Amino acid sequence: MEEKILEFLRKKQGHVSGEEIAAELKISRQALWKHIRVLKELGFDIAAVPHLGYRLISSPDRLYDFQVYQGLKTKVLGKKILYFDSLCSTMDMATQLAIKEAKEGTVVLAEAQTKGRGRLGRIWYSPKYKGLYFSLILRPKIPLDRASVITLLAGVSICEAIKESAALEAQIKWPNDIILGNKKLGGILTEVKAEVDEVNFVIIGVGLNINNDKKSLISGATSLRQEKGEEPGRLSLFQSILYRLEYNYLSFQKKGPLAVIDKWRQLSLTLGRRVKVYSHKEHIEGEAVDIDIDGGLLVRRDNGLTQKVLAGDVVHCR
Ligand code: BTN
Repeated sequence: MEEKILEFLRKKQGHVSGEEIAAELKISRQALWKHIRVLKELGFDIAAVPHLGYRLISSPDRLYDFQVYQGLKTKVLGKKILYFDSLCSTMDMATQLAIKEAKEGTVVLAEAQTKGRGRLGRIWYSPKYKGLYFSLILRPKIPLDRASVITLLAGVSICEAIKESAALEAQIKWPNDIILGNKKLGGILTEVKAEVDEVNFVIIGVGLNINNDKKSLISGATSLRQEKGEEPGRLSLFQSILYRLEYNYLSFQKKGPLAVIDKWRQLSLTLGRRVKVYSHKEHIEGEAVDIDIDGGLLVRRDNGLTQKVLAGDVVHCR
């Protein structure tokens, strides 16, 4: 109901009488008053003027599920969003839900995380209202060796959405760091549950720094606010990421991985560079020549041999 009231107030722009809203939404004036009070508690500034009615003055910068649904152009992704003020990690909650058969496209979003996880066991610093922290449940019908394409398509979708909603050209550092102005803007953590060779579900975790000032960023990181010089709206960026993710995910399911891989190549900051790759097994150096269909990085070593790396950290040498 809160969602409907907001939609109505936004459509009408000026003052709208309580009578008109109540009649339109088929609720009593008293019920309307209660919903308005809930909205005010959530941070919506709604003026109530005697004889004129209600007027929406401003909306808070929050990613409430009902705000995201308004104007969301997807068919499946983000149609169910579980919103939390704070969580340990959205990954844990999404995994529990996926095990309990939550539908494909379900999103768990938190305004802050107390134990946000990054790749390779690192911590993902998740200060409140500063970033975008969410996990998305997907149930692709693909063999396990194709699952890494999902990570690639998430990186591509995020860069496309940043371009669309903030007019900035982010790039991807292998495997899936989102880079802007040579600093890390965000990252993707993919966790897969599979049985024998079939993927059961995939959880894509996305962390992006949006409104952070310098103080709330770790070294080597940046935020959209730092790069753009103004506060970008988290809501429209989030909606755009979901839309792009859905588009690229459907294309991958219908036509296979090549289109996604091609887009990834265009957005890559790593290909064509001399790199050092540190994996748990070894440390190799050479030129990053391409990525493979399984997301592995192909590195041509100085001895002329090309080696594939599936996981690790990359340092760009020049
Ligand atoms: C990386 O190391 O670059 C990946 C970072 C992924 C962080 C996101 S924030 C939302 C989701 N919940 C987590 O605990 N981690 C991911």
